[in-house]
Amino acid sequence: MIMSDPQAVSAAVAKLYNTYPFPPEPLLDEPPPGYNWRWNWLAAYNFCSGRKPARESIRILDAGCGTGVGTEYLVHLNPKAFVVGIDLSVKALDIGRERCRRSGANRVEFHHLSVDQVEELQGEFELINCVGVLHHLPDPIGGIQALARKLAPGGLMHIFVYGELGRWEIQLMQKAIALLHQGDYQDGVQVGRQIFAVLPEKNRLLQREQQRWSWDNQRDECFADMYLHPQEVDYNIETLFELIDASGLDFVGFSNPSFWQLERLLGKAPELINRAQGLSTRQRYRLIELLDPEVTHYEFFLSRPPLMKTDWSDDNLLLASIPELNPCMQGFPSQYLFNYDYQVVHLSATELEFLQRCDGSSTVAEILPSLQLGLDGVRILLQQQLILLTP
Ligand SMILES: C[S@@+](CC[C@H](N)C(=O)[O-])C[C@H]1O[C@@H](n2cnc3c(N)ncnc32)[C@H](O)[C@@H]1O
Repeated sequence: MIMSDPQAVSAAVAKLYNTYPFPPEPLLDEPPPGYNWRWNWLAAYNFCSGRKPARESIRILDAGCGTGVGTEYLVHLNPKAFVVGIDLSVKALDIGRERCRRSGANRVEFHHLSVDQVEELQGEFELINCVGVLHHLPDPIGGIQALARKLAPGGLMHIFVYGELGRWEIQLMQKAIALLHQGDYQDGVQVGRQIFAVLPEKNRLLQREQQRWSWDNQRDECFADMYLHPQEVDYNIETLFELIDASGLDFVGFSNPSFWQLERLLGKAPELINRAQGLSTRQRYRLIELLDPEVTHYEFFLSRPPLMKTDWSDDNLLLASIPELNPCMQGFPSQYLFNYDYQVVHLSATELEFLQRCDGSSTVAEILPSLQLGLDGVRILLQQQLILLTP
């Protein structure tokens, strides 16, 4: 659904989220479980640049924070950072404040502010998180440009926007519900649920809902967010890069990189992979999404220069660096653990010993001599993002 009057759009979006604040996660009296590495400054910076950031006492903006689920993680996962959350929905902000109060996330403040008014906030931010928001703005390009102006040099922006290829059934259902409902958003939820209740078993919209979304959509907040949105723009690779280019920032990479590997689709035909070598990176991404149109969203990092990718191929640079454990891992110390992306990793006994000796002050040169692990072994730990290095 797309409306044309920007003020009417904002009013309709605020009304949706005041009726159904999102996300509807329960409030806890303790920090939320686990981690999302995209919200951990050290892990995210390392992913983007290949090294530990110089500073941890940073400012983070959660733009369109909703009920503060991500905001709360941002506070707890970044113990030296200060976090600011902004949103259009007063109701969502109230829940966000209460959520953070209850779990002791106190380095945070919330403001009732639209993304396009973000210049009203003081100062710049080293990390801007904007998840599930830009595609609901009347002018997403204006929104991303406003955020870009608040990003500090060397800073990172993490964005999540919807993809059209994996959401076309949702778009059709949105339009169908809009034809039948006239009242408030509650009426729309009722109409939508009734449609799904009576559609024939093999109906494509119903099958997609059942296979992909119905677990989440038991909650009316999620159902409304999906099927009743008054404003939604869905992207494909071409329109996504128009948005990115307009931001004036550098594209660093997708934060779900395993999806964007052509080998996963065409790996059995090396000649096709060879043909694809001639494509630009964007054409390659387009080929991947055309062949695997499951793309319901795009998630990625942008940066404001200067952000250098550190090259650890120089032995002397590597030897002089100080290794630390990636803060996003679970199960350490053990030869089997979950890495930053919750993938199981099997370590050799020597690799485990190396990790146990990463004390935050010893250099690689100081740790290595007593171990049967060469510099390439350290590089493998680095590639797996189990360690962060400070040059
Ligand atoms: C789908 S929710 C996402 C919430 C949160 N970022 C998350 O991922 O859990 C979208 C949020 O964006 C907010 N929003 C939409 N348009 C906005 C705007 N122009 N400025 C600020 N917030 C906006 C909505 O009020 C809503 O809370």
